[in-house]
Amino acid sequence: MRAARFHDRKDIRIEDIAEPELKPGHVSIDVAWCGICGTDLHEYLEGPIFVPPKGEPHPISGEEAPVTLGHEFSGTVAEVADDVKDLKTGQKVVVEPYIIGDDVKVELGVEYQLSENMNFIGLGGRGGGLSEKIVVERRWVHPIADHVELDHAALVEPLAVAHHAFVKSGASAGDVAVVGGAGPIGLLTAAVLKAEGLTVYVSELSEARKAKARETGVADEVFDPREVDVAEEVRKRTDGKGPDVGFECSSVPVVLDMLLDAVRPAGTIVNVSIWGFKPEVDMPKLVLKEISLVGTIGYAHDHPRVIELVEQGKIDLAPFITGRIGLDGLVDEGFDQLINNNEHHVKILVNPNT
Ligand SMILES: NC(=O)c1ccc[n+]([C@@H]2O[C@H](COP(=O)([O-])OP(=O)(O)OC[C@H]3O[C@@H](n4cnc5c(N)ncnc54)[C@H](O)[C@@H]3O)[C@@H](O)[C@H]2O)c1
Ligand SMILES: [Zn+2]
Repeated sequence: MRAARFHDRKDIRIEDIAEPELKPGHVSIDVAWCGICGTDLHEYLEGPIFVPPKGEPHPISGEEAPVTLGHEFSGTVAEVADDVKDLKTGQKVVVEPYIIGDDVKVELGVEYQLSENMNFIGLGGRGGGLSEKIVVERRWVHPIADHVELDHAALVEPLAVAHHAFVKSGASAGDVAVVGGAGPIGLLTAAVLKAEGLTVYVSELSEARKAKARETGVADEVFDPREVDVAEEVRKRTDGKGPDVGFECSSVPVVLDMLLDAVRPAGTIVNVSIWGFKPEVDMPKLVLKEISLVGTIGYAHDHPRVIELVEQGKIDLAPFITGRIGLDGLVDEGFDQLINNNEHHVKILVNPNT
C-alpha cells in the first residue's frame, strides 16, 4: 500500500510499504481522509521533533524514522480482531491517535495524555493516516454516526484539542471568552466555545481567517490588533470587567500580553500554543489580577463529547476544510501551500487512496 513516510527534515517520500497486520485487540481501518496539521509542518521544516530520529527508537512504539505520517484521520472499519466484539466492518470511525504505554489505563479520571513517553500515531510510529490502511488498538478507535461525512470527521482530532482547552479553562455556558489567533486551532477552539454557550471574541491578523471566524459564526466579534486595542474593546463589551477566559492560540508574545491585559481579575488563560522559544510573561499583571495561566496538551476523554457535538450538528466542520488533495500532491499541494500560502488555508485534507 502507499504511504507518506517521514525520513528526515524536508525529506518526505510517498512509498510502497507492506500492509499492517491485524493483531488481537486491534482494528484495521481503511483511511478515508487525513488532515495536515501544523505539527506535521514543524516536523517537515524543523524536525524530527515528535518523530523518533534514526537510531533512537521510541521507548513505547520501538520505531524510528522513517515513519508514516498523519494523525488527524477518519475511515471505515476494514476488519476487527476476533476479540473485538463491539465494532463491525464498514462502520465509520475516527482515531484518538495516542501512543501510550500498555500499562496506562484510559478510564475516566486518568490523565493519560500526561503519561511517560506519550507520543502520537502518525508521528512516533504505529502507522499513520497518510496511508491507505492502518491497524489501531481498539481503545483508540471511536465510532461515529453514519450521517457524519468522513471528510468532516477528519477534523475531530484537532477539535478534541480545542475541547480539551475548553475543559482546562473551567469555563461554562454564559461566560465570555477571547481567543488570540484564529488559525485552525483558534477557529476550532472558538467553535467549541460557541457550541458550549459562551460569548466569543477573536483577535486575528489574517483577512481570510478573520472572515472565516465571522462567516462561520464561531465568533461574536472579530478584532484586528493593528486596528484596535483588543483588550479595551473586549472590556467595553463586558461592563469594563474583561472576559472570564482567554485562549492563546498564536504562539506570539504580544497575544499573551493582550490576554493578560484583557482577562478579568481571577480569570483564566489557557495556553494552547506550543512554543519554540521561552516567551516573557507579564508576571506583575498575572499576580495583581490573580490570573490562572494553565497549559493543555492533546486530549483525554474529549472525543465522545466532540463527536456528539458534530453528530448533533452543533459544530459544522465543513467551512474549515479549504483544500482536498491526493497523496502524491502531499508536499507540493499540501505542505508547500500551508507554508507559503497559509493566508488562504485552514485545513487541507488528503485522500490517501488517490
Ligand atoms: N496544546 C496542544 O495540544 C496543541 C495541539 C495542536 C496544536 N497546538 C498549537 O496551537 C498553536 C496554533 O496552531 P495553528 O495550527 O492554529 O497555528 P497557526 O500558526 O495556523 O495560527 C496562528 C494564528 O495566529 C495569528 N496571529 C499571529 N500574530 C497575531 C497577533 N499579533 N494577533 C492576533 N493573531 C495573530 C496568525 O495570523 C495565525 O492565523 C500552535 O502553536 C500549535 O503548535 C497545540
Ligand atoms: Zn495535529
